Amino acid sequence: MTLDPYPPPEDLGEILFTEEKISARVAELGREISEDFAGQTPLLIGVLKGSAIFVADLARAIPGPVELDFLAVSSYGEATRSSGVVKILKDLDHDIADRPVVLVEDIIDSGLTMRFLVEHLSAQRPSALRTCSLLVRNSAEVGGVTLDYVGFRIPASFVIGYGLDVAQRYRNLPYIATYRQG
Ligand code: IMP
Ligand code: MG
Repeated sequence: MTLDPYPPPEDLGEILFTEEKISARVAELGREISEDFAGQTPLLIGVLKGSAIFVADLARAIPGPVELDFLAVSSYGEATRSSGVVKILKDLDHDIADRPVVLVEDIIDSGLTMRFLVEHLSAQRPSALRTCSLLVRNSAEVGGVTLDYVGFRIPASFVIGYGLDVAQRYRNLPYIATYRQG
């Protein structure tokens, strides 16, 4: 049996980060987080669904105790551009008051989602709130928000793989590539 190539060649642009490159960077981020939170149990909050794969690897790159929770926010839908509105579709299960928290995103594009979530979580008075994103687009405007842990900075093109999708596809690619549109 022969399988069709996945992604089809007309969708796949350039591979920006290989599986090896991602895993080496995730290991470094895990080390940084464990040093910064030594003696504590940080709560990693993944933003569904894009950061699910990243947060699963990041948690395993932290040798000490961690807890996990997830938030879901409104996505771009089928579009590859932000609608400009962020809505919480699933809130946290844990109470984060007095807890050290690391908010984990897949990518910061406009910065809107991150700015909204930092405000939403700070209002619940965690003992610490750090931000982590696997990718940050060069054009992102994060306003007053500090990005504490950044995997890679990327230029404008839309990307797929390692959690990132186009209309729910390609999250399972082990690498990150640009998506060839139209
Ligand atoms: P922001 O609010 O504009 O920063 O958008 C952040 C969210 O948009 C991310 O968490 C992703 O879910 C989605 N997103 C932005 N750029 C891309 C991309 O290149 N590929 C896949 N998803 C993206
Ligand atoms: Mg996302």
